[in-house]
Amino acid sequence: MIRPVLRMGDSRLLKSSATVSQFGTPELFSLIEDMRDTMAHLDGAGLAAPQIGVPLRVVIFGVDRNPRYPHAEAVPETILINPHLTPLADDLEEGWEGCLSVPGLRGMVPRFLRLRYEGFDQFGTPLSREVEGFHARVVQHECDHLDGLLYPMRIRDFSKFGFIEELFPDGVNVPEE
Ligand code: NI
Repeated sequence: MIRPVLRMGDSRLLKSSATVSQFGTPELFSLIEDMRDTMAHLDGAGLAAPQIGVPLRVVIFGVDRNPRYPHAEAVPETILINPHLTPLADDLEEGWEGCLSVPGLRGMVPRFLRLRYEGFDQFGTPLSREVEGFHARVVQHECDHLDGLLYPMRIRDFSKFGFIEELFPDGVNVPEE
């Protein structure tokens, strides 16, 4: 079921979410199905459970190569529960981000360039990947939602924050997450 996405200003987006303690339950499957439907409907690159008002540590993400988003490398469709991130280098890279909870805007956000992420899928199977670039950026953006952080809170240069049509008159930008 497509669910409404909370928008910046809703205090539920600022809360820390709870760890998932039971895997393989109908409730968890139903949450993930709703998240997938909602993300697909909005053509998003990722979605975190608190964005649909569910305060649990569940994120999904995935990007197909899309000519509209030349800066977005393909990212495999992933369900990540109770994630833990470990940066693999100190390097931060600035890159454009958008968020389904901050529609119509884009901002330049510093993120770790390389990291390992660990967590579980909906069945409780462990998952561990080392990633970089846009994949690493998407994971950091989604996991921030679980700690009540929205990307504008991380912007350092506010001259690189604004409406899509003004920032990208040629229409080339990045997907919302
Ligand atoms: Ni977001």
